[in-house]
Amino acid sequence: MEVILTPILGGLLHIVDLFMQIILTVALGFGWVTGPATDDPITFQDPENVQMSFVLWADTHTRSTAFNPYWLECGFEDIDNSGLDFDAFVIAGDISEFGDAPSYELVWDAIADSSIADETVFLATGNHDIRLAYESQTEMIMTKESEYLGVEIDKPYYSYDVNGYTFIVMGSDEWQFEKAIISDEQLAFLDSEITRATATGKPAFVICHQPLANTHGLPEVWENGDLGEDSEAVKEVLLKHKNVFFLNGHLHDGVYEKSLEVFNEANGVYSINIPAYGKDNDYGEWSQTGLGDYVEVYADRVVFTARDFQAGQSLEGMTYTFYLK
Ligand SMILES: [Fe+2]
Repeated sequence: MEVILTPILGGLLHIVDLFMQIILTVALGFGWVTGPATDDPITFQDPENVQMSFVLWADTHTRSTAFNPYWLECGFEDIDNSGLDFDAFVIAGDISEFGDAPSYELVWDAIADSSIADETVFLATGNHDIRLAYESQTEMIMTKESEYLGVEIDKPYYSYDVNGYTFIVMGSDEWQFEKAIISDEQLAFLDSEITRATATGKPAFVICHQPLANTHGLPEVWENGDLGEDSEAVKEVLLKHKNVFFLNGHLHDGVYEKSLEVFNEANGVYSINIPAYGKDNDYGEWSQTGLGDYVEVYADRVVFTARDFQAGQSLEGMTYTFYLK
């Protein structure tokens, strides 16, 4: 099934893409479509003392049939306009809408053409990436990740340190249409890597496409929108530690009061929902595409700021500061 569907879908989408590219070229030529504004650039609270910084996107849902590649370029242009030197860039799953090869190529090309290409790029698998062809799609994305990191990754999950700070990227160990299966082996990996990462009081960043059950407005905002049956086991691991940030996408919810879930305030264990970058968002004051976060890590705190990267504008009042425990 996957052998037949993926190339047919990819081929059809590529043809439509050529047509869409013509429209975009005309729209850009007439000034109907413009890039990000430059009057509200990304700024750091204390640039001299940032220990590590990263840009955090989810759900880019790139389609080779739409303007998504241009939207990606706008986001990278906004990052470049800041003149700041980020250390890492994350896409927390649903990189592609249909899982077709041409759409991934557009993402890899957009990254390669941006200054982010010089930084550490983290990719997580989302349900849209793996639902049509779990084995081959997971392998393709992890092969790309291996290329980015220069180390071989042979599982759908991995970890990597940037400036001494650990990113742990999770992914489903089996095929699922929308949820994720987290094996005992992955749970043990998560536990041991958080232990290592936080041993000296530093924060750990756990990237997982799906949110945990009963967080961020679930199940009301989406009856079946959580990670699934292993959700509680993942949460139990997180709650064993201090200074843990669980960062998920999947919901396509904007930035609002339910974007932050406090699991344990005393120990600094949180879940933060990342809005969709490549699709409209459902809740909060900001529903447009192009949303994401940028994160500053200091010796004593972590600062998340929500931003419209396509428009070049930070979301007013949507900066959250977490002091380390
Ligand atoms: Fe999604």
